[in-house]
Amino acid sequence: MKVIVYPTRHYVEERDIKDKVAVVIDVLRATSTIITALYNGCKEVIPLAEIEEAVNISKNYEKDTFILGGERNSEKIEGFHLSNSPGEYYREQVEGKTVLITTTNGTRAITKASDAKEVVLASFINISIVCDYLAALGQDIAIICAGTVGKFSADDILVAGALIHGLRKKNIFLELDDMGLTAEFMYQHSKEDLHGVLSKTAHYSTLKDLGLQRDLEDCLALDTAPIVPIYSDGIVRAWYNIVDIR
Ligand code: MLT
Repeated sequence: MKVIVYPTRHYVEERDIKDKVAVVIDVLRATSTIITALYNGCKEVIPLAEIEEAVNISKNYEKDTFILGGERNSEKIEGFHLSNSPGEYYREQVEGKTVLITTTNGTRAITKASDAKEVVLASFINISIVCDYLAALGQDIAIICAGTVGKFSADDILVAGALIHGLRKKNIFLELDDMGLTAEFMYQHSKEDLHGVLSKTAHYSTLKDLGLQRDLEDCLALDTAPIVPIYSDGIVRAWYNIVDIR
């Protein structure tokens, strides 16, 4: 299985991912938040690049059937219902609703992946089931890290490394590029202390300084939301059982 890892969406050439399954990662926090919302029973999530787009689309929904969520500079957008903290998307808040979400990096990385054969969202909170799913598919993979404002972000690379590590444990022969080898190495040397390793990194520190310690705990927890979110035709929906997807 060939695995290529893009440190940010800016490196992705649409033609290079056409024949691959894309896995999009924005562990802090967009994919963690979207996975949490789906795990807690929201109907679907529509990831959008721009605030105006989200507001315009929301006009097509009846009151109380949708949630406008997201962030700019890691803070809630004025007039939106929710920000980008996984903890805000609890069951009573989201069940049965459509979540329209726009974030600085994560939702843009998801839409950038549209040309791939299939698009899966990953984070630490669904890492094992995504590994199982990718192993079952047995196809070449393009891991697209969202990064932070165009820059490499160590948190996303660690999730990429965890995915590679998980696939390797299944005895799958992997052909990795240099970013993939680096991600695997980083994860192997960080997995016992994710918070400690990330504590000096930029995005982790920004969230900590904003008092979002709980988000950091929620986003770096393992397998707390075991679903496979698939993005197709502009919408992310959840699969709970990989047998159903295949
Ligand atoms: C993003 O998409 O840029 C992030 O999720 C930023 C954040 O809210 O921490």
